[in-house]
Amino acid sequence: MKAIQYRTFGGPEVLEYVDLPEPEPCPGEVLIETSAIGVNFPDIRERQGVYNRAETRVGGVTLPQVGGLQVVGRVLRTGTETDGHFTGRKVMALMPKGAYAQTTVARADLIVELDEDADDIAMASLPCQGVTAFLALQVCTVLRPGESVLVHGASGGVGSLAVQIARVLGAGTVIGTASTDARRAFVRSVGADHAIAYDSPHWPESVLSLTGGKGVDVILETIGGDVFDQNFTCLGMLGRCVVIGSTRGPGEPLAPRRLMARAQTLTGVYLPSFFQRPDLVQRGLRFLKDGVDNGLIRPSVGATLPLSRTADAHGMLERREAQGVIVLDPRY
Ligand SMILES: NC(=O)c1ccc[n+]([C@@H]2O[C@H](COP(=O)([O-])OP(=O)(O)OC[C@H]3O[C@@H](n4cnc5c(N)ncnc54)[C@H](OP(=O)(O)O)[C@@H]3O)[C@@H](O)[C@H]2O)c1
Repeated sequence: MKAIQYRTFGGPEVLEYVDLPEPEPCPGEVLIETSAIGVNFPDIRERQGVYNRAETRVGGVTLPQVGGLQVVGRVLRTGTETDGHFTGRKVMALMPKGAYAQTTVARADLIVELDEDADDIAMASLPCQGVTAFLALQVCTVLRPGESVLVHGASGGVGSLAVQIARVLGAGTVIGTASTDARRAFVRSVGADHAIAYDSPHWPESVLSLTGGKGVDVILETIGGDVFDQNFTCLGMLGRCVVIGSTRGPGEPLAPRRLMARAQTLTGVYLPSFFQRPDLVQRGLRFLKDGVDNGLIRPSVGATLPLSRTADAHGMLERREAQGVIVLDPRY
């Protein structure tokens, strides 16, 4: 079978299109013939070697590595101790590695079945970013109906799905941040009531004004840098800030006493840790499937490229040229 493998860490050029033996499913796993493979930003960080540190990647990355975290495909066969009824079924899978291949193994407890008429390419764009957004809003904190939410980086994959998930959960005011007018228009188009810029130190005042001076109940933080600290100016009483990422770097440490005055909570989500809680990942995958089935969640696919051009897909993502997830076609 064809796969994309890297033997050293580095730029997109380390990604090689190679022939590898078909993997064998272990007990509790399924072997999937892939039909669509979603590319994620963490795939790039792994390829660069950034996540090969104890504090940034659960278990680290072992070379040679076939990367990739999410696929749609059909189950060819199951390992021992795996529910045999999956054989022949179309599934969506989240996995710790190995997605960039014509066949791959996934844990049976990290897949959900899809309907035969499901759109493979659209669904392959969802698991990593969608489950992350779901865990942030339903597990790390619980967004209650009517509560207001601020989603940073709302034009991105995690952010745009978080806006839609917040809507499904019955959020009150939903505010998204993005860097350009075009991106802010996109944020409103996916369901945010308001889209604001975050590049001036005064952005928290806009959030206070949009929430009648009370501040928001929940913040999904993905930016970092100065923005991390500024969040606490517009987080309301009993508000919760969920750290998902820091595209601008971590920012200054927060003094814990800052949380006391308005009884606020600071928490975080890191998807790989949840592989030890497959029940919660399953809840997320099912929520996403149901949301798409009901027309409430709209996956955003920016481009489809052949598997053999995965290096180009990484380059596009690194240059921020893609709007929406890039999906790979394993046939070519
Ligand atoms: N905790 C977890 O388990 C987990 C899982 C998945 C992703 N993440 C993290 O969540 C964040 C968002 O991931 P994503 O998959 O949604 O990424 P994405 O689709 O690339 O979107 C990220 C958004 O962040 C903004 N941004 C600000 N500075 C940026 C920079 N230097 N480079 C790229 N984008 C920048 C961009 O919007 P504007 O230009 O409008 O600002 C972009 O739309 C990342 O930090 C990622 O590492 C965390």
